Amino acid sequence: MDIKLRIGDIGKTTADAVLFGVFDGLKKPSDELALADKMLDGEITKLIKQGEIKGKAGEISIIHTMGKVPAGKAVVIGLGKSEDLTADKIRIAIADACRALRKKGVKHIETVLIGAGVNNINPGTAAQVITEGAILGLYTFNRHVTKKPESGEITELVINDRNPKNKAAVQQGINTGKILAEAANLARNMVNEPSNFMTPTIMAAEARKVAEKHGLEIKVLERKQMKELGMGGLLGVAQGSEEPPKFIVLKYLGKNTKTIDIALVGKGITFDSGGISIKPSDHMGDMKSDMSGAASVIAAIGAIAQLKPKVNVMAIVPATENLPSGTAFKPADILTAMNGKTIEIITTDAEGRLILADALGYAVKQGAKMIVDIATLTGACQIALGDITTGAFTNNQELLDKVIAASKETGDKMWQLPTFEEYKELNKSDVADLKNTGGRNGGAITAALFVGEFAEKTPWVHLDIAGTALLDSAKGYYIKGATGVPTRTLITLVQSLAK
Ligand code: BES
Ligand code: MN
Ligand code: ZN
Repeated sequence: MDIKLRIGDIGKTTADAVLFGVFDGLKKPSDELALADKMLDGEITKLIKQGEIKGKAGEISIIHTMGKVPAGKAVVIGLGKSEDLTADKIRIAIADACRALRKKGVKHIETVLIGAGVNNINPGTAAQVITEGAILGLYTFNRHVTKKPESGEITELVINDRNPKNKAAVQQGINTGKILAEAANLARNMVNEPSNFMTPTIMAAEARKVAEKHGLEIKVLERKQMKELGMGGLLGVAQGSEEPPKFIVLKYLGKNTKTIDIALVGKGITFDSGGISIKPSDHMGDMKSDMSGAASVIAAIGAIAQLKPKVNVMAIVPATENLPSGTAFKPADILTAMNGKTIEIITTDAEGRLILADALGYAVKQGAKMIVDIATLTGACQIALGDITTGAFTNNQELLDKVIAASKETGDKMWQLPTFEEYKELNKSDVADLKNTGGRNGGAITAALFVGEFAEKTPWVHLDIAGTALLDSAKGYYIKGATGVPTRTLITLVQSLAK
């Protein structure tokens, strides 16, 4: 989909549909909507009087223009109460409207700069979230469906602004919105692929494509190098699979120095069967998404390379399958992670923290000044926060505050869970330094603290996306299937570090 800016009379557009926003409780149309109403001989005023247009959030009214203006449809979208409007609500409204219009066969939309000037939402932000809402909301994954869908694609979205003074800001908003949303969609594509189309080898190839496209350094370590580095956690998990593991490292240098300001580490289990501690078969297919953290960091660093903030960033992905076999690791095995810490295996299904142990060990060895890891780590986090909110954990409140601030901009909801010392007791083993589960109670927290052991003194944030990586049904700009969470937040975070 092409997204463009047009300065000029909205009434003269050649789009199939023109979009306007209305607030809850309006008595008569104002601004651009008043102009449209006039051109449509008071049709909108009539619908407001009749109570068909109320301005409630989620309301979409499609008005056929019957040749009175060049556009075939005027579309009025409810935004709720004006005092409650946020940038995220614009994102959601646009996503819903775009999907509704796609169903009607609309190809070309023009929209006014919805929300600009309300509640301090500036024109650039409005343009950015409109762009994101459209690109994210219209995402589809139908690569493997041979019959093409009946409703085609929306090919063009024009953002109309009456005020030429805002031109630069609006164009910048469109550009940023595109980069953010396309990165999230890239992550979604990787996650939606089933594991026979997203092996560690294929993931490494995807990372290479991102690196080549955006001029990033890339290194992919093979089993031999993993052995040399002593990555016992990753090798232990990988030993049950025929697919070779990959350790993917991407580097973006936005400054003249070499020090890594921040390492983004993503769990890359391309399929989690549970291994010898095998999972029940119900919904096991969802475990194709156990590389959502990996997808988010690969996509994020590609976007970062386009936005060029003055920050040095490393994306690190330990990638493997977790399968049972005659060569698989087993409960009671003891593994040694890259930093020398030993781990007793209680269950082979707590594999994420084992591969993260080595990835964080690598980040520390590279001298990363901050680490953020992203992982579909625990069912416990999904139970605690549902599919709405990502669990956030830290050893450094200042860093987590920055992550949360970024998430408030993107709409990827996050909530901090505690990391009190007392929980660490639960990860202690009698036969090794740590055991790989602290039990069912507080499972998201003990898993986080296990991972945190490998960040050592480095400021670190852990994001558990087990609940938020995959959805059963569409919610605003998140679609059914992979959400792409928290790709946009990672990009926004890194941008904020440059300031
Ligand atoms: N990949 C799973 C966690 C998960 C669960 C992600 C649901 C997405 C949705 C992880 O590897 C796992 O199996 N965790 C276990 C740990 C337990 C055995 C200590 C869990 O949460 O049940
Ligand atoms: Mn598991
Ligand atoms: Zn897993």
